[in-house]
Amino acid sequence: MKYIAIFIFLFAYGIAQGQTYPAGQEPDRVILNLTTDAQHTQAVNWRTTVAQAEGQIAQLRIENNSPDFQDSSLRVFKAKTTFFTDNEKRQSAYHAVELTELESGTVYNYRVGKEGAWSEWFQFKTADGTDQVSFIYLGDAQNDLRSRWTRVYRKALQTFPEADFVIHAGDLINRNNTDAEWGEWFYAGTGINSSYPQVMVPGNHEYFRDEEKKLTLDPHWQQQFNLPTNGVAGLEESNYYMDYGPLRIIALNTQVIMLDSAYRKAQAIWLENILKDNKQKWTIIVCHHPVYSTSKSRDNFQFSGLFQPLFEKYGVDLLLQGHDHTYARSPLPQKNEKKPVYLVSVSGPKMYEIDPQKDWMEKSAENTQLYQTITIDNNQLQFKTYTADGKCYDQFELNK
Ligand SMILES: [Fe+2]
Repeated sequence: MKYIAIFIFLFAYGIAQGQTYPAGQEPDRVILNLTTDAQHTQAVNWRTTVAQAEGQIAQLRIENNSPDFQDSSLRVFKAKTTFFTDNEKRQSAYHAVELTELESGTVYNYRVGKEGAWSEWFQFKTADGTDQVSFIYLGDAQNDLRSRWTRVYRKALQTFPEADFVIHAGDLINRNNTDAEWGEWFYAGTGINSSYPQVMVPGNHEYFRDEEKKLTLDPHWQQQFNLPTNGVAGLEESNYYMDYGPLRIIALNTQVIMLDSAYRKAQAIWLENILKDNKQKWTIIVCHHPVYSTSKSRDNFQFSGLFQPLFEKYGVDLLLQGHDHTYARSPLPQKNEKKPVYLVSVSGPKMYEIDPQKDWMEKSAENTQLYQTITIDNNQLQFKTYTADGKCYDQFELNK
């Protein structure tokens, strides 16, 4: 009887606490991140228990159809391991590897872990150096990820399995530094994050103020991702750029642009240099806060005031944004006009209303979960927006 009472108590306590996602003996949260040289390098990150931390490696081979993975082409990469204590005071080990000297346009197999505790073998493809690229863009996932975001993420990949990578425009989770929410985010991406390189910027929900009131990025971010560090000093992995085929992707950290004038100025100077030197045919900005808001009292003048003139001066093609929990797209630029197309989208279940006074939108939606696919082929960019059920909701083409 006593044991039954203890069991009922623990069961009820578990429900009240919500599901947690502790590290296991075998690798979890395996994720690829796009690098600045996607033709030849691939970043991988994963997690284990502390007890399993020693001797973690990645194995890699060029894909072939044999189930015998121990052939002579197998390469081994030693992981860089760091320890992390999450908000539930649990310690785990995170492991990072950069797979290098890869062949362009080639499918590879890899697995991570160590003897007796391996991940499955995954596949990924390196960039091929042509003037074609395609990818998926997702607005805020943020809330109730496992239950109500998973279907959207999976539908996006079913619609567009040929994507080269996936972009997330911030607010991946709701409560910063909440390991259980990151557990749900990774759960939704099971089999996707380990096969398609990921690109993400933080939103306001990945930030908090520490005891000295200093604006601080969720410590999970740099533990679990392996993003470029070529942005403003102090904003490593949240402000950066990378080139992929004919495309330059520029990630701006708009949370610090909104709330910190020093980082605002520093990112504007950095951005102007990146745009001035840009020889890529297409340029896309990924950022969380939108230049044009869809809702009342949510304009982001600290951002738009300083940055919008740069986007227009240097001919940025597209802004992929989030934050407003609606869908909205600006009109396409007229011939010889250097204006970007401004997009706001949302993939998760949290919804806001559109302010009818806002008249910048050519196409919009409320109360709808969405995902977007983008294909660039030399001088042409095709953009498609889909609703969660896989129906095309909006589309346009840009030509150079
Ligand atoms: Fe947000």
